Amino acid sequence: MSVTINLKSRGRLIKRLPTSVDVNPKSTPSELASQISSKTGLSIHRLRLTKASDGKVLEDLNISSNETVYVKDLGPQIGWRTVFVIEYLGPLLIHPLFFIPKLRTYIYPHIQASTASIPPTLNQQLLLYLVLMHFLKRELETLFVHKFSSATMPWRNLPKNSTHYWILSGLNLAWFLYHPLVITEGKYTFYTPSSTAILTFIVLWVFAQVSNFSTHLTLSNLRRAGTTTRGIPRGYGFNWVTCPNYFFEVLCWLAVWALSGFNWAVGLFTLVSAGQMYLWALKKEKRYRKEFGDKYKKKRAVLIPALL
Ligand SMILES: NC(=O)c1ccc[n+]([C@@H]2O[C@H](COP(=O)([O-])OP(=O)(O)OC[C@H]3O[C@@H](n4cnc5c(N)ncnc54)[C@H](OP(=O)(O)O)[C@@H]3O)[C@@H](O)[C@H]2O)c1
Repeated sequence: MSVTINLKSRGRLIKRLPTSVDVNPKSTPSELASQISSKTGLSIHRLRLTKASDGKVLEDLNISSNETVYVKDLGPQIGWRTVFVIEYLGPLLIHPLFFIPKLRTYIYPHIQASTASIPPTLNQQLLLYLVLMHFLKRELETLFVHKFSSATMPWRNLPKNSTHYWILSGLNLAWFLYHPLVITEGKYTFYTPSSTAILTFIVLWVFAQVSNFSTHLTLSNLRRAGTTTRGIPRGYGFNWVTCPNYFFEVLCWLAVWALSGFNWAVGLFTLVSAGQMYLWALKKEKRYRKEFGDKYKKKRAVLIPALL
């Protein structure tokens, strides 16, 4: 026995959308979406199905015959993996531009050309390598470690998604980090940390990167390739906070901040990122508690052990 579901376009009219389809009541929303996809020629990922009766996204097909389902075309889609690759490409492309001698006079036009063309200091070179290695690691993890649950997002959201990385950690960080005259103690001087500080913060940075990588491996091992299931993460870092990967990410940027002479642009980027990650970590903790009930050991701190 099958039920008839009425279909209506929501927003822009979907040309070949049939007015109704017959489905097996036991089929899933994604099976219904596949049926609509084959009729309209639109990829399943760009279709959003909502129940007309309550406006909620269709999570099961528990609806009676002749009920209406709205079908929204979300527009052309882009794979999440590609989104991340494009986002992280921003800082990878932008930072090295600040090391091209000829460009420096254009990048810092308000500074005398003779000063603006001074090559970046050794400390600035060190900062460049740390930033590049950080984002290169993220690119490699995106391609080879992470298993994302969402397949795609609308293309039109790409500029908004990329702003954080292209502007805040791309242009903003690079402009201030590689400035010919770095500001310290209210005066323009070249900032050079002591060798003890360099060693200490490089060790902290390496420790945080390796730890961050280890937590990403733990998360990746919780999911079989091609599936979207979630598991309870356990092991290194996960007994201290909900999202140790975010904690180690913050540590990496604190090390860069210290090496930059506590440059405010790095501080701002670290603060904004940590704020965002804190909100995500709170949500993640809530989700684990709801999804896994008693099996999940509640965490008091979500981002910073014993603190936050
Ligand atoms: N500097 C910054 O502003 C900033 C901001 C955010 C992230 N980051 C960095 O980027 C990294 C990745 O960020 P993210 O927000 O994607 O981290 P995330 O939410 O912890 O997820 C990392 C990967 O693990 C999967 N995953 C998470 N929890 C899982 C579970 N319980 N079971 C199975 N798989 C699970 C996620 O899949 P799903 O697709 O299902 O989520 C995703 O593929 C962070 O660790 C951090 O280093 C930096």
